[in-house]
Amino acid sequence: MNAPLQHDFLTLQEIWKAAQRNLPPGPWSYLMGGAETETTVLRNRQALDEIAFRPRVLRDVSRIDSSAPFMGSKSRLPVMLAPIGGLESIVEGGAATAARAAAQFGVPQMLSSVCQPGLEQTAAAADALRVFQLYVRGDDAFVDDYVRRARANGFRAFCLTVDVAMYSRRERDLLGRFVKPWRARAIEGVAYQSGLSWTQVKRFKDKYPDYPLIIKGIATAEDAELCVQHGVEVVYVSNHGGRQLDHGLGSIAVLPEVISAVNQKAEVWVDGGFMRGTDIVKAIALGATTVGLGRLTGLALAAGGVPGLVRALEILEDEVRICLGLLGVTCYAELTPKHLTRASAVRPPGTFSAFPLPDPE
Ligand SMILES: Cc1cc2nc3c(=O)[nH]c(=O)nc-3n(C[C@H](O)[C@H](O)[C@H](O)COP(=O)(O)O)c2cc1C
Repeated sequence: MNAPLQHDFLTLQEIWKAAQRNLPPGPWSYLMGGAETETTVLRNRQALDEIAFRPRVLRDVSRIDSSAPFMGSKSRLPVMLAPIGGLESIVEGGAATAARAAAQFGVPQMLSSVCQPGLEQTAAAADALRVFQLYVRGDDAFVDDYVRRARANGFRAFCLTVDVAMYSRRERDLLGRFVKPWRARAIEGVAYQSGLSWTQVKRFKDKYPDYPLIIKGIATAEDAELCVQHGVEVVYVSNHGGRQLDHGLGSIAVLPEVISAVNQKAEVWVDGGFMRGTDIVKAIALGATTVGLGRLTGLALAAGGVPGLVRALEILEDEVRICLGLLGVTCYAELTPKHLTRASAVRPPGTFSAFPLPDPE
């Protein structure tokens, strides 16, 4: 499906350009689009661009550790491939291809329940650090079946995505008349998703007290507190990459209130607009432990399959290490909110405002 990797990418900008060349218009809009006016999509970038660094100097940064803990293991970076449904329309092999890249580079993958080739085959494809994400499309027995299969296949934790009580209007897909091949399968049982409440979270933790639960799609301190009260292990701050509720805040703008509400009683993960090493360092400085990569994962896979994604992660690692060193820290434990300050963004947010340079003549 994708053109072979013809050159070694030197920048992430080259990777998204290659992805755009490789993808047909339908899958491209599906990957990059958001809900309605895409205000939330843009705010994700804007909120990241409104944070500036306060670097410290003369601190011996000759040795830097950019790895991070993840679910009792180690990840090469504090990032995770965020769950992406329908990855099979972006890259041949879908989630199995993503798993191979995750394993080869050494970062975790969160597998979406609406992604081919499914739970068992994705787990068998590579020995990646993995967690599983479910859209609840059935009753308690439906959830229990997924929990059993996820545990049996080495998924370290279980995630419920909770910002999809309604399926949003993705206007790029509508305007392009793009009918997602998996849509019929994906909408089966959506009423269960709309019917979810904290009762199901309580039931999960009562039944599986030792299986870490991640709640993905938290966007307020109030809901973060409820997560903690229910014994949730990971509060995952996300607005679904601006693909669900339009006119929300940028994810990183919400992070401080959630970190403070959680008060170290759970881990806090975040995603939404993260495209650069500096973006990742900002989230970790605020207190997040893992950053999810959504569209960047899709772009890199579309650009070059496994080697494309591995290369994107290598470039990201380079950016993270440079940023840490120039901030005067040698590991994430030395980063604090004092390394950050508010500033105005220097350009309007856009889908690719993280990659603003013109093409060379
Ligand atoms: C094409 C696409 C499909 C997605 N599918 C899922 C999904 O199946 N489950 C889920 O929890 N989130 C899904 N998401 C949301 C991502 O997990 C993540 O929250 C979001 O993409 C982060 O923002 P970013 O794309 O700006 O990095 C999807 C995102 C994209 C771009």
